[in-house]
Amino acid sequence: MKPQWITVFGGTGFLGRRIVRALLDAGYPVRIAARHPTPPPGIDDRAVSVEWVRADLHDAASVGKALDDARGVVNAVSLYVESGGRNTFEAVHVDGAERLAETARERGIERLVHISGIGVDTESDSTYVRARARGENRVWAVFPQATILRPSVLFGPEDALLTALSRITLMPVIPLFGAGNTRLQPVYVEDVARAVHQAMARDDARGQIFELGGGTLYRYRELVRMVLRHHGRRRLLVPVPFLVWRGLASLASLLPGAPLTRDQVILMEQDNRVGDDARGFESLGIEPRSVEDLLEACLAS
Ligand SMILES: NC(=O)c1ccc[n+]([C@@H]2O[C@H](COP(=O)([O-])OP(=O)(O)OC[C@H]3O[C@@H](n4cnc5c(N)ncnc54)[C@H](OP(=O)(O)O)[C@@H]3O)[C@@H](O)[C@H]2O)c1
Repeated sequence: MKPQWITVFGGTGFLGRRIVRALLDAGYPVRIAARHPTPPPGIDDRAVSVEWVRADLHDAASVGKALDDARGVVNAVSLYVESGGRNTFEAVHVDGAERLAETARERGIERLVHISGIGVDTESDSTYVRARARGENRVWAVFPQATILRPSVLFGPEDALLTALSRITLMPVIPLFGAGNTRLQPVYVEDVARAVHQAMARDDARGQIFELGGGTLYRYRELVRMVLRHHGRRRLLVPVPFLVWRGLASLASLLPGAPLTRDQVILMEQDNRVGDDARGFESLGIEPRSVEDLLEACLAS
């Protein structure tokens, strides 16, 4: 009998790799779809099916092929910095997300899990945040039974949060975003992967949005201090107004591979946390972990 695949778009990424692992562990046959697909590490001894295919969200034919014989699909594709051509937020997070959802619906695929982000807002100052919001709307318009997951900033080994903070704490003085008061709810990448598995498995997750935040809410400067303590470093923390950061980001955007973007600054201007009335991990039967539970393990790697 042919396997009924769960296709994971972006299955080679920071989150996607963990989603693939969680689904394989749960016994699903998994197809990894990316522009440069690679096998997940350490699968040789597995009895379950896994395969990897070349697919690009911009290319309808490759999207269709990646969904052959699939019964579920996860969209874990990301783009954080626009680089022109087809690498725009609109093309990836709006048009690409809709293309995948529409193809899934045409194929009669039962389940779609779309990964978005906390704080999506069609009125945001950030092109990225607006595109994520519009992407969600388009996905739901064509696939109303899709499950939308909105994770907060992810942490884990080799992440973009704790690793970046570690690098920053090497500097003699640490500039803060504003006064460092922005509240963040970092979420462990493995917990989000478990949530994807639950969203795929549970009927009550269809047509729902889940906001996924970690076990503890921190101010930005608390996270900086935690990382400083971990490394046994003492540094002066210096508040820097957001207006200055916006200016620096505009200058940085002139450099190739900009180290800081306007969208990142805008994201740091607002609390990034699960809404009071939002469905979250609890509704999926998962207790999310906190940065302090895993800081040692994450930074040891
Ligand atoms: N990281 C975070 O802190 C965070 C926080 C909240 C939400 N999220 C969301 O979580 C999702 C995954 O993020 P991530 O950090 O794991 O991303 P990532 O590590 O950058 O991985 C992105 C994945 O998407 C694939 N991809 C990129 N463009 C593609 C295209 N045009 N067609 C097909 N595949 C493509 C990449 O492989 P190829 O390059 O080989 O195609 C890779 O597998 C995104 O929706 C992101 O916005 C992330």
